[in-house]
Amino acid sequence: MIPFKKWFGGGKQQNDELIAKLAADNIPNHVAVIMDGNGRWAQKRGLPRVAGHHSGMKNVKKITMAADAIGVKVLTLYAFSTENWKRPKEEVEYLMKLPLEFFPKEIEELIANNVQIRMTGWQEGLPDYTLKAIQDAIDQTRNNTGLILNFALNYGSRKEMLSGVKRLAQDMRTGKIDENQVDESLFSSYLLTHPLPDPDLLIRTSGELRISNFMMWQLAYSELWFTDLCWPEFSEQHFYEAIQEYQRRARRYGGL
Ligand code: IPE
Ligand code: IPE
Ligand code: MG
Repeated sequence: MIPFKKWFGGGKQQNDELIAKLAADNIPNHVAVIMDGNGRWAQKRGLPRVAGHHSGMKNVKKITMAADAIGVKVLTLYAFSTENWKRPKEEVEYLMKLPLEFFPKEIEELIANNVQIRMTGWQEGLPDYTLKAIQDAIDQTRNNTGLILNFALNYGSRKEMLSGVKRLAQDMRTGKIDENQVDESLFSSYLLTHPLPDPDLLIRTSGELRISNFMMWQLAYSELWFTDLCWPEFSEQHFYEAIQEYQRRARRYGGL
């Protein structure tokens, strides 16, 4: 059996026991999470929605470490969609400031764990301070070789595909690409997620059973796992439950 990486989250026995139950040779390479339900989590407790976002932010490192401990290679967290700009200005502003708190607080430990920070989404439209916080974290972790912690921020799948199609059409017009070259792999290279592998497992919290414009091309053969728990209450144990369920699934890709 391939030995699992040391657990950094405080060595809780329960986590170790759950990790020990997992098949080390069938860990999803790329896990994507739609971190949903922050607002409802707060409302249930009589708190303002933004308190839920703050609590959700604090959960990010815990789940990052849980993923790293079992050898996940890429963890993508859907943090802000191209549709989330429709929300009240104050809420959007609060969300845009979270990276300014998250990265300075956590970067040291992320670096110590060899984590690489990435972002998938449009820079245009994001406040300069948000971009700077993320860019600094990307730069500081550029030479790391461990888990890729990828934030889907100002990301939307339809916009991503349209922009890819437009750039591809332009490359065909200028003769850089011949129509006969256009296959799934080439199209994938025009998407923002390139060169990341497609997610093997998608987790969505909060009980919503939808994709909400998230990686619609990339999720074609991903295993989907939903929980009624809201993101701030989603723990390492729940994460390992999802991985356990993933390991029980038979991925057939249309074959037998
Ligand atoms: C997810 O929680 C975080 C973002 C979309 C930014 P929500 O804010 O969507 O919480 P609910 O779904 O309203 O409870
Ligand atoms: C999806 O959640 C986006 C993120 C988690 C960032 P939403 O809360 O925006 O999705 P809908 O509106 O319920 O579909
Ligand atoms: Mg929501």
